[in-house]
Amino acid sequence: MLITGGAGFIGSNLVQYWIDGTNDTVINVDKLTYAGNLQNIAKVIGNPRHVFLRTDIGDAYAIPQILAKYKPRAIINLAAESHVDRSIHDPDTFIQTNVVATLRFLKAVCAYWNELAEDDKAGFRFLHVSTDEVYGSLDVGAAPFRETTAYAPNSPYAASKAASDHLVRSFHRTFGLPILTVNSSNNYGPYQFPEKLIPLVIHRALTGEALPVYGDGKNVRDWLHVSDHCAAIRTVLEKGQPGEVYNIGASSEKTNLEVIEMICSLLDEQQPQRNGKSYQEQITFVKDRPGHDHRYAIDARKIRRELGWKPKLTFESGLRSTVRWYLENREWTANVTSGAYREWIALHYDKHANSA
Ligand code: NAD
Ligand code: DAU
Repeated sequence: MLITGGAGFIGSNLVQYWIDGTNDTVINVDKLTYAGNLQNIAKVIGNPRHVFLRTDIGDAYAIPQILAKYKPRAIINLAAESHVDRSIHDPDTFIQTNVVATLRFLKAVCAYWNELAEDDKAGFRFLHVSTDEVYGSLDVGAAPFRETTAYAPNSPYAASKAASDHLVRSFHRTFGLPILTVNSSNNYGPYQFPEKLIPLVIHRALTGEALPVYGDGKNVRDWLHVSDHCAAIRTVLEKGQPGEVYNIGASSEKTNLEVIEMICSLLDEQQPQRNGKSYQEQITFVKDRPGHDHRYAIDARKIRRELGWKPKLTFESGLRSTVRWYLENREWTANVTSGAYREWIALHYDKHANSA
């Protein structure tokens, strides 16, 4: 099994899930950008069934060599630039990785797949991990995104993911590559980089900093625990129809303010402050994200009906265990919030704070 982006948030959870739940050897290809971290995969480093290769998926020289050497039976592609706010500051990096590098990767994979023996060729799968953001924004009360919802990306990140989805689709339709695409809603759980809402709020609450709410805090996200996403990816890989798209979500819509208040309550319970104050007092409304999508919601009936997957965790239980994980792994957060992280916070949040 070749997994790209396996040192990032979802990728590292998936690599661990795959090592624990299958007999496959996992070839983990990751460039180790600011978001990739070997500490995320510390538990599998040294495992004979895990091979880590620091490589860019767009490296047209290295990738064919890796494919020829390890001969994967399937590929799960998670490598990407993933943070919307960064895509607003620096869209070029998103086009470079999510579009240009993905195209190079697809070309290399297609050439490899074409040379496989007939049986291996028939069994091969390329599973592309995409996002609900490609569908754009929903009004309150509108029906959740289906696999047939028209693409309407609103951020440079979403546009770059939409482009990569189209390239993946075209490699199926034009060259016959057996692809599967999954579009999931917002993930949360262990090892998420603390630039994303949930780990950012936990981290800043514990360090006594402002908890920045963009706009009025009424934007809605549909939360999915990363372990449920990993199980869905495995289900789609094993049972999905090549060429098909599967939306993945747990029907857990919450406003951002609700999420932040839930985190504060869990922290008040699990790590009460000495001064008796609630973490809620740190909530601060800041300038809105430009082009901020109002609401995401996933209709996951297709994967439930056709492939029999359903989420195991409620948002309440998943968030509780996530908060506990961050409390028990403060060293991990301390390590990943040094250096470049601080530069990002200064660049992004100082601008917000000034206009709060
Ligand atoms: P992440 O930013 O935590 O991890 C991305 C990983 O990809 C990092 O380890 C990084 O080093 C690696 N990477 C980046 N560019 C690379 C390149 N050119 N070559 C090789 N490796 C490269 O992201 P994540 O949140 O784990 O998301 C993983 C995938 O899932 C992305 O494709 C993202 O669009 C998608 N997704 C994420 C969410 C979410 O809520 N986090 C939801 C739906 C879909
Ligand atoms: O929907 C799936 C997508 O979810 C993935 O494709 C992306 O990779 C992932 O980053 C995520 O995108 P969002 O923009 O929804 O996630 P983020 O954690 O950045 O923000 C969640 C919501 O919280 C969003 O409405 C913006 C808001 N927010 C975020 C931050 C970082 C705040 O109010 N304050 C903040 O400081």
